Amino acid sequence: MLNTVDSEMLYDKFGRPVNSLRIQLNAICNFNCIFCHMEGTERSMQYMTPEQIEKVVAVAASHGVNKIKFTGGEPLLREDILDIVRRTRKHITGNISLTTNGVELPKLASGLKKAGLDRVNISMHAIDEYNFHFITDTKKNFLPMVKQGIEAAKNAGLGPIKINFVLMKNINENQVDGMIKFCAENDCTLQLIEFEANREKEHSEEYIKYHVPLDAIENKIRKQAEGIEYNPLHNRERYTVNTDSGVVKIEFVKPMRNTDFCKHCTRLRITADGQFKTCLLRENDYFNIKDVLENSEEIDKVYRKAVAARVPYWR
Ligand code: 5AD
Repeated sequence: MLNTVDSEMLYDKFGRPVNSLRIQLNAICNFNCIFCHMEGTERSMQYMTPEQIEKVVAVAASHGVNKIKFTGGEPLLREDILDIVRRTRKHITGNISLTTNGVELPKLASGLKKAGLDRVNISMHAIDEYNFHFITDTKKNFLPMVKQGIEAAKNAGLGPIKINFVLMKNINENQVDGMIKFCAENDCTLQLIEFEANREKEHSEEYIKYHVPLDAIENKIRKQAEGIEYNPLHNRERYTVNTDSGVVKIEFVKPMRNTDFCKHCTRLRITADGQFKTCLLRENDYFNIKDVLENSEEIDKVYRKAVAARVPYWR
């Protein structure tokens, strides 16, 4: 297939290896979360086919990528999602995971597991119906369905499930204890995420209105923690906290103005319509393969260019 291409791990000019690919599968979602960064991409309605995605994955795998994350939009709204996971699994022995709002999981969880998915991140940004509804900005309130989705993922063996929780000032910032309890009861890892935006948007009214730094909460959790592990994959600590409802693992994702975060980034992205992208926050950093998606050698050339162009955003 790729016999003209050497298999080798690629490093960028900053010595960072690329071993992970974040694949955006679509740009539509049944939620309209008020803070959504849309993976830093423009909304496109043109999507790569499962065959094309497989070609891109094979090229990335030939360069040492062994970790795949599917995102959207909402990736489970793709009708060919099982085919995409199956095709990806042929090339990847490492972790394949997916970030979802969870609504489609009761229908899809066991099929995803069989297709080769390892685990899921489920976005759940509030513990109560009122704030969940406000954040997701939908006609109907989906919180009960998200909870069913978490249950379905657990039953299908798509764990450890991570709950993504983006902290928002005056909205859900007082719900951390509630989320810890929920995660303990449901056997999930809690991932507390800092609201992020690029330099252009960082000073906007909306960003300032909602952004909360996570340091104070992390310091509090560190004091409560029974155990602290280092997670080398993301260069961050993972806290084990004992609660009345059971044991929970908690991680903090703090990207903003965090040079250490970027220093340890080992990921390349690809947009739903077929453009490599070096960084979520960077604008105009697209490496287009839309017209060469049938040709592995051409994909390979652009892949190398994209890796070579990676520059830490915060440095
Ligand atoms: N800041 C931080 N996290 C975000 N997400 C979406 N937008 C933002 C943002 N502006 C999270 C979602 C989802 C994951 C893909 O990214 O909540 O869990």
